[in-house]
Amino acid sequence: MKEKLIQIKEEALLDIENMKDLEELEKLRIKFLGKKGELTKVLRDMGKVPKESRPVIGKMANEIREDIEKEISSSKEKFKEQRKMARLEKERIDISISQEKLKYGHIHPLMKTIKELEDLFMSMGFSVVYGPEVETVANNFDALNSPEDHPSRDMTDTFYITEDILLRTHTSPVQIRVMKEMEPPIKIVSAGRTFRFDDVDDTHSPMFHQLEGLVIDENITMANLKQTIDIFIKELFGKDMKTRFRPHYFPFTEPSAEVDVSCFDCKGKGCPTCDGTGWSLELLGCGLVHPKVLENCGIDSERYSGFAFGMGVDRIAMVKYGIDDIRLLFENDMRFLKQF
Ligand code: PHE
Repeated sequence: MKEKLIQIKEEALLDIENMKDLEELEKLRIKFLGKKGELTKVLRDMGKVPKESRPVIGKMANEIREDIEKEISSSKEKFKEQRKMARLEKERIDISISQEKLKYGHIHPLMKTIKELEDLFMSMGFSVVYGPEVETVANNFDALNSPEDHPSRDMTDTFYITEDILLRTHTSPVQIRVMKEMEPPIKIVSAGRTFRFDDVDDTHSPMFHQLEGLVIDENITMANLKQTIDIFIKELFGKDMKTRFRPHYFPFTEPSAEVDVSCFDCKGKGCPTCDGTGWSLELLGCGLVHPKVLENCGIDSERYSGFAFGMGVDRIAMVKYGIDDIRLLFENDMRFLKQF
């Protein structure tokens, strides 16, 4: 019996060494240690062993069982570890593999310009508000003192959605919305898209951007307007920039002016870009809000006065970034956009 046990032990240990995986190992465990396993079978015959030898054989059988169990479980551990390593290897992400670099986008130069303008005006105490691109004819023209037969309606033709609703031709209708909603003092800017029936060329686009400003309070005069614009231009383009107010006409301001600033190339000395004048023309339109417009919005024009201005943002972005064709801003050519 002893020999039988030793034989089982040797056979089992040898087999364990040759097992290839967990499944085989489990089969082997059943073969030797299971209910009908070989070791069990031997132990079942203990009855045949002389009584005095039984404790020795029993002890030996138990030790062999323990040995085999220990071997199986350490082999099991080995297979489990192997399996884990194989899985890790399979699922490994090689972070050292060079991949195409992630491409980061960035803000469009035009939006950057708007943000910068808004920040600048906020630093001067203005609030930023927004108005809709689809406007009423009433806000876009009538309330701004441009009656139906007014020539400015022809000059700024646009897309009419119905007879009373259009794509706004300027940001000035935001003035109306704000004055109807807020009590003075009012100090706002509002930037956004505007639309006109314009043929496309290097300085014109049927869709472009404006930034509107409006200040309403007691005792507001042309001096406040000039000061505000002057500070703004110097902050935006540099301390050495000068502004020039030229009389102009807008139906919704009186008096009205167009503002020229020093030529961006020569800073006022005179160069081919400015035809030797030293001035860059028509950066913005402005004026004192027409009393009729105040009254249209329910503001007492005897007590309050104010100024308004509107500027072309695309133009400012072009000057700032040295872009010579407005179409580049809207064509979304990556080769162009990547440069900012
Ligand atoms: N809305 C005018 C334009 O588009 C600009 C402007 C705004 C003029 C405010 C005066 C006051 O040309």
